[in-house]
Amino acid sequence: MSTINDLEPLKNEYIPEEVLDRETESEQLRQALENRQNVHVHGPRGTGKTLIVKKQLESLGTNVCYISCQRQDTQYKVLRKTVNELTSKTVGSGHHTSELQRLLKNQVEAVETTIVLDDLDFLLLNDGDDLLYFLSRIEADLGLVLITANHRELRDQLEERTFSTLQPQRIGFEPFTGEEIYKVLADRAKNSMKPRSLRREALTYIASSTQNLAAALTWLRISAQQADNVVTEAHTKRLISEALQQYTATQLRDFTQHHRLLYQAIEKLESDQKSSVRTGDVHLKYRELCQTYGQKPLTERRTSDYLKQLEQLKLITSEYHYGGRKGKTREINRVNPYSNT
Ligand SMILES: Nc1ncnc2c1ncn2[C@@H]1O[C@H](COP(=O)(O)OP(=O)(O)O)[C@@H](O)[C@H]1O
Ligand SMILES: [Mg+2]
Repeated sequence: MSTINDLEPLKNEYIPEEVLDRETESEQLRQALENRQNVHVHGPRGTGKTLIVKKQLESLGTNVCYISCQRQDTQYKVLRKTVNELTSKTVGSGHHTSELQRLLKNQVEAVETTIVLDDLDFLLLNDGDDLLYFLSRIEADLGLVLITANHRELRDQLEERTFSTLQPQRIGFEPFTGEEIYKVLADRAKNSMKPRSLRREALTYIASSTQNLAAALTWLRISAQQADNVVTEAHTKRLISEALQQYTATQLRDFTQHHRLLYQAIEKLESDQKSSVRTGDVHLKYRELCQTYGQKPLTERRTSDYLKQLEQLKLITSEYHYGGRKGKTREINRVNPYSNT
């Protein structure tokens, strides 16, 4: 027996026909796009930023290009992907940045275009704002939608010259309430699970345990997959660490083996010592794991950058501590998206 008719609606990348709530944000976005204004969409993970933007793009009458900067985290990569998507050309990797810039400029000068840079934080961390500066200077009907997974002002993350030409309108996304999460989960379950295969208390439990809709969906999916014929509250409770593991794996899917080893190092240190984890220990543990898995360890400089990316994914937090025998140290903790429990 199984509880599932169709797994698709329980997947994170599934695009539902209808979005629930978020009317204000959707409307603000629609107007900005129509008025050809640049937009900065901001808010924590799992608040529906990507979905709402994609939905609004569906009905937009311009050329559209959606880029996730988690994968494309340099100016060069973004330019290449944008040119490939917007033109029918396939440009290889042998081109110079300036040539790609020229191709893109020609294209957007010819056709009204909207470019979405999702998870822009990753591009900014890795490569600064040169690309945005270039885009902001193009004199054509080009609309930009910039999405970041934090509430910080873009003004503080960009050079003044870039920000002042972009002047994006801010649209903020706040975490979902328990009721909203419940509603979305129930809607997905209706399209995915067999009748009477999900207890109300199980849904309530998940919805009250997290504000991150992606994490909630992962938990429901795992519970539905593992249950014999009905998902109960006890059932979901038992599966929380498996859900966490799955959520983390999905977040790290587009990253390297070394990102995963670093995360694993932190996980191990946390369970070994029960106290806070220092960056120095993380690097040691990571090297140990590399040896175990026959991987050549990366330099500490690279792994420090990777740790920052884990932080941007909200999988870990890191905090400086001053004083004590060692002077300034950095402490790392894993983030549990189900921490309302
Ligand atoms: N308003 C909504 N109605 C229905 N499902 C939603 C809504 N907002 C988000 N979701 C679903 O929740 C998950 C996380 O949303 P996502 O857009 O990826 O969040 P973010 O980009 O803010 O991290 C996705 O599976 C998405 O389909
Ligand atoms: Mg997103």
